[in-house]
Amino acid sequence: MPSEAAVLIPALDLQRRRHELAARLSEELHREAEPPVYVMVLEGARVFAEDLLALLPGQPEARRIRVSSYAGGRESSGAPRIEELDAVPAAGRNLVILEDIVDTGRTARCLIEHFAGMHAKSISLVSMLSKPARRVVDVPLLHWGFEIPDRFVIGYGMDLDGEYRELPEVRVLT
Ligand code: IMP
Ligand code: MG
Repeated sequence: MPSEAAVLIPALDLQRRRHELAARLSEELHREAEPPVYVMVLEGARVFAEDLLALLPGQPEARRIRVSSYAGGRESSGAPRIEELDAVPAAGRNLVILEDIVDTGRTARCLIEHFAGMHAKSISLVSMLSKPARRVVDVPLLHWGFEIPDRFVIGYGMDLDGEYRELPEVRVLT
């Protein structure tokens, strides 16, 4: 790990917030007759999504998709490619997209449009992190774990060129 990568969100804070989010989601979505389908956006959101889903009641239905928006480096290309690793049964269902971080908002917007085109009944977005200062495209976030400043972060699933995902906390690259 680069020695200048300072801790921004310790693992315990991530854990506490995950429990709060899980409690909210259970109340809001799991009392309904039509339980949601969770869409995990790999690779970045894998750790967050798996940890969060483990806290939800019953056996939440989850599907994995992969979105590649980075050509490498720190800036998203703006034209993300969506690959459904599992077929997402979107038509007529309430979808909850689980993201690691909403930065410019382009990826989330693209996903929302993608599933709207598949006639989802509703589409909600839950992200562990949000960088509001970077937003270029307005996206509706149902819930988010933490708002963070305009800094590039790594750890807890998030990478820089494939590295640092396994860090248990969120660190900021200076
Ligand atoms: P957006 O399309 O600009 O909102 O970027 C969305 C995706 O870019 C996120 O889902 C992340 O996978 C990635 N990303 C954005 N900011 C960061 C960061 O600070 N660290 C690691 N990945 C990031
Ligand atoms: Mg992501």
